[in-house]
Amino acid sequence: MGILQGKRILVSGVLTDASIAFSVAKLAQQEGATLVLTGFGRMSLVERIAKRLPETPPVIELDVQNNEHLDTLADRIGEHVDGLDGVVHSIAFAPQSALGGNFLNTTWEDVATAMHISTYSYKSLAVACLPLMKEGGAVVGLDFDASKAWPVYDWMGVAKAGLESCNRYLARDLAKHNIRVNLVAAGPLRTMAAKSIPGFKEFEDSWPERAPLGWDLSDTVPAAKACVALMSDWFPATTGEIVHVDGGAHAIGA
Ligand SMILES: NC(=O)c1ccc[n+]([C@@H]2O[C@H](COP(=O)([O-])OP(=O)(O)OC[C@H]3O[C@@H](n4cnc5c(N)ncnc54)[C@H](O)[C@@H]3O)[C@@H](O)[C@H]2O)c1
Repeated sequence: MGILQGKRILVSGVLTDASIAFSVAKLAQQEGATLVLTGFGRMSLVERIAKRLPETPPVIELDVQNNEHLDTLADRIGEHVDGLDGVVHSIAFAPQSALGGNFLNTTWEDVATAMHISTYSYKSLAVACLPLMKEGGAVVGLDFDASKAWPVYDWMGVAKAGLESCNRYLARDLAKHNIRVNLVAAGPLRTMAAKSIPGFKEFEDSWPERAPLGWDLSDTVPAAKACVALMSDWFPATTGEIVHVDGGAHAIGA
């Protein structure tokens, strides 16, 4: 019996089979979960990728900047499952001007877009799913260590710092619904989102050397395993936490 047997889980953020969310979805199914996916924009691509999972889950559309999508989300999920035990937030975006070393010149409009999609949406998604989580459950988000200023990560780093804070406030306010809220801070992985960061190669070159356990830039499974574990019954008293899945790099001085 898998550790998510009988659990109903919403996974956002599948775009390609390199997406962290794809690995989470695959492992969650292998561990017994029933899934619903959300996709953004390129829905036919997401539906095609969903077919590569052990069982093809339903895919519903969600643009986290679209209030109508959010307001109708619970009803649309409810057409496929009678409730949710877990929600995975694997969503981030920043305009090009907010990344790549242009920190001092990025406009508020571009910063606002990054914060709306990468930070505020953690709260929006959790609240949109709340009517379906009557028996409690777990919310898990994907983070990149925001305790330091990194090369090229710029306003996405600020957005992730906000995400880490949002994680603590959500943990505070959703505890009364018996919902745990935790982040997985993954090391750099070669996904579509990563490829859109100009200068991402700087992370690729240094991370595997800094990480005492080593680091495989194309293996999303370790981060996905942590997400699945956090949604299982094996972290019953953990909330507001950040679990680092980075080969140990965060613990080591440069
Ligand atoms: N790749 C890395 O190095 C890395 C490391 C740590 C954390 N993360 C985080 O993991 C998460 C998933 O990213 P990924 O690396 O798997 O890349 P990805 O490109 O596969 O996933 C990003 C997802 O965000 C979605 N998205 C963008 N704008 C959206 C919107 N308006 N509404 C709804 N969805 C939207 C995209 O459709 C895509 O599915 C992100 O939060 C990212 O910051 C990534």
